[in-house]
Amino acid sequence: MTKQEKYEAFLPQLQGLIDETQQAVSVLANVCAALHTEFGWWWTGFYLVDGDKLVLGPFQGPVACYQIPFGRGVCGTAWKEQTTIVVTDVEEFPGHIACNSLSRSEIVVPVFNEEGAVCAVLDIDSKELACFDETDRCYLEKAVSLLPKTFFVAQAICKKNQEKMDEVTK
Ligand code: SME
Repeated sequence: MTKQEKYEAFLPQLQGLIDETQQAVSVLANVCAALHTEFGWWWTGFYLVDGDKLVLGPFQGPVACYQIPFGRGVCGTAWKEQTTIVVTDVEEFPGHIACNSLSRSEIVVPVFNEEGAVCAVLDIDSKELACFDETDRCYLEKAVSLLPKTFFVAQAICKKNQEKMDEVTK
């Protein structure tokens, strides 16, 4: 089975798992578990926007950094640039934050809220070099787009985050 076929088969299962009547953190935890188990990556998790930093959210894999400042590391850069970043070799990414020395390549996909602001990032790490490519970018962007926007706008904290961010970036 090609990677593309694997994602094609996986996305409907993921859709079935995303139950918007459940708590956001529970669903994000199950999304990580499903992705991690299916693809066998080294670390799969969400960092959530909290003011001017990202905080560790639901994940699978080894313990990780609690906080990542705006614009720092791959996660903070994907947030700042509001775009997916594919890193084929973490040692060549300036400012890469090494939560775990075994991580060799990674992909970070931003999650957007209803207002079009980044409210979280999906961070996936591999122990192999060049594990991620355009196929992963395409399907992982689809995967995060399945997350209900209500998860993020429903949190009163989200609006507050945006106001804090506006202050930081102006
Ligand atoms: N790789 C990330 C840090 C988080 S961990 O790898 C889980 C980064 O540089 O943004």
